[in-house]
Amino acid sequence: MCGIVGAVAERNIANILLEGLKRLEYRGYDSAGLTVIRDGELHRERQVGKVQALVDAVEVNPEFFNGHIGIAHTRWATHGEPAQRNAHPHVSGKIAVVHNGIVENYAELKEDLLAKGYEFTSQTDTEVVAHLIHDAYKQTPDLMEAVRTVTPLLQGAFALGIVHVDSPDELITVRLGSPLVIGVGIGENFIASDQLALLPVTNRFMYLEEGDIARITRDSIQVYADGIEVKRSVNEIDASQHNADKGEFKHYMLKEIYEQPDAVARTLEMAIDSSNTSSLRKDFLQCNEAQLAGIRHIQVLACGTSYHAGMVAKYWFENLTRLPCSVEIASEFRYRNPVVVDNSLIICISQSGETADTLSALRDTQKQKPTGLVSLALCNVPTSSLVRETDIFLPTHAGPEIGVASTKAFTTQLAALMLLVLKIGVTQDRIDEQRLTTLLGELHKLPGQLYASLHLDASIKKMSEHFEEKRSCLFLGRGLQFPIALEGALKLKEISYIHAEGYAAGELKHGPLALVDKDMPIVVLAPKDSMFDKLKANMQEVHARHGELFVFASEESKMVAEERMHIVYVPEVCEILAPIVYSVPVQLLSYHVAVMRGTDVDQPRNLAKSVTVE
Ligand code: F6R
Repeated sequence: MCGIVGAVAERNIANILLEGLKRLEYRGYDSAGLTVIRDGELHRERQVGKVQALVDAVEVNPEFFNGHIGIAHTRWATHGEPAQRNAHPHVSGKIAVVHNGIVENYAELKEDLLAKGYEFTSQTDTEVVAHLIHDAYKQTPDLMEAVRTVTPLLQGAFALGIVHVDSPDELITVRLGSPLVIGVGIGENFIASDQLALLPVTNRFMYLEEGDIARITRDSIQVYADGIEVKRSVNEIDASQHNADKGEFKHYMLKEIYEQPDAVARTLEMAIDSSNTSSLRKDFLQCNEAQLAGIRHIQVLACGTSYHAGMVAKYWFENLTRLPCSVEIASEFRYRNPVVVDNSLIICISQSGETADTLSALRDTQKQKPTGLVSLALCNVPTSSLVRETDIFLPTHAGPEIGVASTKAFTTQLAALMLLVLKIGVTQDRIDEQRLTTLLGELHKLPGQLYASLHLDASIKKMSEHFEEKRSCLFLGRGLQFPIALEGALKLKEISYIHAEGYAAGELKHGPLALVDKDMPIVVLAPKDSMFDKLKANMQEVHARHGELFVFASEESKMVAEERMHIVYVPEVCEILAPIVYSVPVQLLSYHVAVMRGTDVDQPRNLAKSVTVE
């Protein structure tokens, strides 16, 4: 959460900072601010709300922000409400600081600083950092040294950008537990929470390790680890792969829903060669075969939408390989002293790879040191902390996902999980050749089926009109569709703000049926699968109680619309892969309901895309 950008260059950097912030807005949008050093002074502007408010404020007097060094921030509020005084950068004397993360011991540090006479103007933990650096600088008037003195005092996870009026050529940055990259230019250098922010100015990046402190000037980057200067390599990326424009679409979310056939096809290509769909590609996780061969139990850890992907994987692992699989929300797992059994594969699923709860849950499993533990990151960001801290990296090839509500990241996670199930199944002789060939053939058809499901857009838009005025909604599914019911409910609530619950349809009679009346819309995921007859009985229970049903069904189910029962037919897909295809209609439904209700679809209130705090 929170995005930081910094630049030191010969040209004016205000617009680089503002453009960078716009690109980082997915990380938080409660307030935005920037500071530029000009004529021996810090020039600061801070505004509550989105980056556009800051852009508008800067435009009133742009010359004021003409400068060659500066830092900027977009905030997701943790300590202190979204207010101008809490917006970053925070200043202490001639020092300005931007911060992503949390300083857990800020209250004690604040006490000490108050005793020394420092005054606080905000409720944030960050202001403590600014004052601490100011205090250390009094003893050692060197910014790098002052930062080095202060960082060991800070507990928590953070990335910092720091400038000082008296050192107008250097930008100091620290990475400890929160993401940070250095953008390498020619005669200019940059920092950001995500390389996406810097793509307009460079495609060369240096990735810092945890605990690194760097001094950045126009033409030099010095990185220190434990006080010793270290080398970090510079990687060139293909910027065309990171297209972050909305293109012809009104919202990123819709664009990303429409990108799913291609994104899933790219992910499948890791393991399936289109000219040979009878076996997995030899190079797919080839160097991890020995590790995968020894696995006897699977533990999935994830949050939110990624957790729902893990729930689908549980059905797949247990059905197809008979390996026991547990799935748990990372924020619960990490605090309950769980038993990690020997020979477990820990699969951490995370779109961003920076989710604090998932990272901590992973570290807890590693601390227990069970025999034969193997960890795997299923992640969309190859440079993320999660990828660095795990034994195996299985990428999803979703491309950047900007909409806060996850769509293509989810379906590519599912596609990659199925590939992993097959790989483990084949490696351990748990899936026979015939089954493998059948499943690979079905996977090969998947991008086409996803594409066909996008043709439902117009009918789902029509269906969404029924939800505009609703206050509450239920999503039902059984078996493999239960996690998709949960995901559908999460999508609807996060972007339309309608209260929604996902239920395993068999649970209805154990309580939630009491909610059903003529005002309650009930979305049902009803492919013609092994659970269909049971599900049909559950639908009848609802219909008999005057609930209004909105059913996503296969034509094969021969369901027909009737009073209080609306049906959209989803393209045929085999039972095992149906959760991937049935994700599309629930995404489209949430999207259209949100648009109709006029909410901020890409940046729903109170949320951020990358949840780097607990
Ligand atoms: C909802 C959504 C979130 C994330 C969750 C975990 O649409 O995107 O529920 O899935 O915050 O994030 P990652 O996958 O980055 O670990």
